[in-house]
Parts: sequence; structure tokens; C-alpha cells
Amino acid sequence: MSSGARSGVATPDQRARGRARTAKVWAGRLSAPTSERVETYTSSLAVDRRLGADDVAGSRAHARMLRGIGVLTAAQHRAIDAGLRAIAAELSSDVFAVSPGDEDIHTAVERRLFELAGPVAGMLHTGRSRNDQVATDLRMWARRACTDLLVALAGLQETLLTRAAEHRTAPMPGYTHLQRAQVVSLAHHLLAYVEMFARDAVRLGAARVASDELPLGSGALAGSTLPLDRDRVADELGFGRIAANSMDAVADRDFAVDITSACALTMVHCSRLGEELVLWSSAEFGFASLPDSHATGSSLMPQKKNADVAELARGRSGRVVGDLVALLTVLKGLPLTYNRDLQEDKEPLFDAVDTTLATLRMLTEVISVVHFDIDAMRQAASDPALQATDVAELLVAGGVPFREAHSIVGAVVAQTVAAGRTLADLDLAEWRAASERFDASVVRLFDPDAALRRRDVPGGPGPRSVTRQLTRARALVARTRRAAAGG
Ligand code: ARG
Repeated sequence: MSSGARSGVATPDQRARGRARTAKVWAGRLSAPTSERVETYTSSLAVDRRLGADDVAGSRAHARMLRGIGVLTAAQHRAIDAGLRAIAAELSSDVFAVSPGDEDIHTAVERRLFELAGPVAGMLHTGRSRNDQVATDLRMWARRACTDLLVALAGLQETLLTRAAEHRTAPMPGYTHLQRAQVVSLAHHLLAYVEMFARDAVRLGAARVASDELPLGSGALAGSTLPLDRDRVADELGFGRIAANSMDAVADRDFAVDITSACALTMVHCSRLGEELVLWSSAEFGFASLPDSHATGSSLMPQKKNADVAELARGRSGRVVGDLVALLTVLKGLPLTYNRDLQEDKEPLFDAVDTTLATLRMLTEVISVVHFDIDAMRQAASDPALQATDVAELLVAGGVPFREAHSIVGAVVAQTVAAGRTLADLDLAEWRAASERFDASVVRLFDPDAALRRRDVPGGPGPRSVTRQLTRARALVARTRRAAAGG
């Protein structure tokens, strides 16, 4: 080993060799080749490879702009663009070969451009840093992710809406504390999820708007001395606006937080829907059954048929909530501007989007094939106890203050339960013994269909209200689709 290497100062020759081995874009500054262990630890290629197409698109727009402001000659631009197009083709046909020294997809693309176009490739990075480049690439990916998520959300909403329309007047028990509470309809229950997913769509639409801003032209952090035409690049890449502050532009990952956060809440909603499917398909409820194609068995118990898809929708919500916490924790405490920590933004964002997309699509399928046992639901909704509130409200209609009515009916419930009877077993005389305000209509309160018809307050589960909700749900699906189209 030469004395130069031992003292940590490389000879010019060693520097050249170091550059040749690792082909680092920043090798000029450093005097020894990067340790392979450092390369392995710092590489993000396995994760950011999927930004390849966006990286090339960003580079092509940047190169065209450099041509426009006279930094590149027409011939130089042609050579660079031809190389970039060839790389795009390699990426899309999955033959793009990475080399061990590639730090990330951005350096890999640049290295390949050198191989294809020669030294002119060295002009592409003019006025650009990987800091504004990676933020640009990620925002392009993010916009598309929002669109995909919105399309998937619309699909799930539409399927819930279709199943709701099939069961517009099918009574079922509604629950609080997982105890039977009052009669609702299956349609009403399913439409509650359409509302949840509509709010998710609003959040994702806003995240898409947050992503729709061009960082390129911000350089490493302080812009450029060159007269970069940022508006032109924004136009070409379809960005709605350019980032207003170069320091914010390279350090900001709020858009990624917005998407991951919207995914986390979407997954929480998927988890709740999954839990309903698990409960409903149990023997204890018996409200739903999955076709064999969408259920799973047990390796030990031959009789088992499980709703594993629904359980995984529930279980994976934990992952996505974790992604959100991971991302927020990466950002917390970072000084302006770019820090390598920001490389850790991609895994949580990608995982959140992948998991949410897959879950939305799978649940859409499961909801469209699940069999609802509306007879079992009606049977459960026929439990006379579900009408206890209606009995109290009957007294209210006769002028009894609600608290008093509640206590009168509560006492009747306690007596009937103790006697092993139900509210529907009582005759008018027995009701009148509890309160002389009761009239004959009290004994007719216990039909679940009639109970449903009574609850036609706006937003309620009654048939007219549900018909209005179905109309609204159709509008919500259309709104989600418009948001997906960027509207
Ligand atoms: N792989 C890096 C990332 O994802 C690219 C930016 C590197 N910039 C730098 N100055 N080292 O964040």
C-alpha cells in the first residue's frame, strides 16, 4: 500500500481507480473508494428502483428545458434524449441492469446514460441536484398513487352501493357495545362505509393536490445561477405549480405524510369492515358467508372455513399505521434542508400505498361475492328488546318526558326478563299497568319491518331515507371518480 493511501490521502492515480470502480457521481471530492459495507448500507436502489420511469421523464423534461435556454446544443440534446429514451425502454421491459456501485435509481440512470451516450451525459445534471430530482420523482409517483387509490376507493364504494341497493329494506340489528341496540337495515349499514370511504377520498384528493408541485429548479437547496425555466418543466411534467421556496422544496415530504395518513385512516376503515365480515360470518352471528373461492380452511380442523381476507385487511391496518408513524418520525427534528434521512421516506410511503391498494381491491371483490343471510338478520332484528326505545318514544308522543318514559320501559324490561318473557309477550293490560298512557298501538310495535319504516328521519335507516342515501352514494362515487381524474 502506498504511503498516500495509508495517510488517507490518495494519489491522483488511486482517485481515478476509485472513480472507475464505483463510478460515484460525487467521486471527485473523495480520495478513497467507498467501502462496500458503506455502499450496501447507504444504497436505496432496491426500494427506489420503481421511480425509474419517473426519473427518466423528469430528466427528459429537464434536458429539453436546458436546450431551450441554450445550455445544450441541439445535437447534445438529441444524444441525451435518445439515451434517456433507450433507458426508459430498458426499464419498462425490465432489462435495465444495475451495477454494484449504483447508489440509487438516479445515479443508476445517469451511469447508464454515460454508457449509452458518452461524455455528453455529463451535461444533463446541469442546474440540478439529486435533492430536487428525488423530490420531483417522488411527487410524480405520488400523484399517480393517489389516482390509483381513488380509483380503487370508487370501486369499493360502488360495490358497497350495489349491495346496499339489493337490500334496501332488509332489517338487521344495529349494535352499540356489540349489544343489539335498534333495528337498522343492511343497506344502511353498508352505506355507512360508503360515507367513510368518501371522506378518505376527500383526504386523498387533497394529498394529490399537495403532491402536484414541482421541486425541480431548486437545486441542492439554493436554486441555481442559471436562468432555469421552471414553468416550462412544470408544464411538461404536468405539475400544477412550481415550489415557491427552494429550501422547502428539497426538504418537504408533507405530501408523503398526507398520502400515508390518508392510507392509514382508509385502512382503519377497511379494518372495521373486515371485522364486521369476520363477526358476521361466525356461527354466532350467521349473517354472512363467503364463497369457498374467497375463504380459507384450517390445516388441522376439517370443518373450518375462515374469513382470512377480512382478518388480513384488519391486520394490515397496523402496518400502515406504522408506516405513518415511521414517516413522521423520520421528519421530526430534521434541520433544513435535505438530509440523508429523507431517503427513508420511500419505504413507508410505498408500503402504505401498496397495502392500501391491495386491500381496497380485495375487499371490493369480497363484498361483491359475500352472501348475506337476510333471513338470519331479520330473525335477529325481530328480538322485541330492539323496540324498547320505540316503546319509550310512544310514551313521549303521549306527553311523557323521555327520562320518565325510559324508566317506565326499563322497569317493564327488567320484569319481563326476570319472568323469562319478551316485550312482545305483554298484552295491553300489562302495558297499562306500567303506564296508563299506553294505548293499543304498543302491542304492534314489534315487527322489524314496521320498526324500520318508523325511522325515516333524514339520515335514518328507514326506506325513504335509505333511498335518498343511495342517490347521495351514487354522487359520492362520481365525486371519487372525478377526484381520480384530477378534478
Ligand atoms: N437516494 C437519495 C434519496 O432517496 C437521493 C438523494 C441523495 N442526495 C444526496 N445529497 N446524497 O433521498
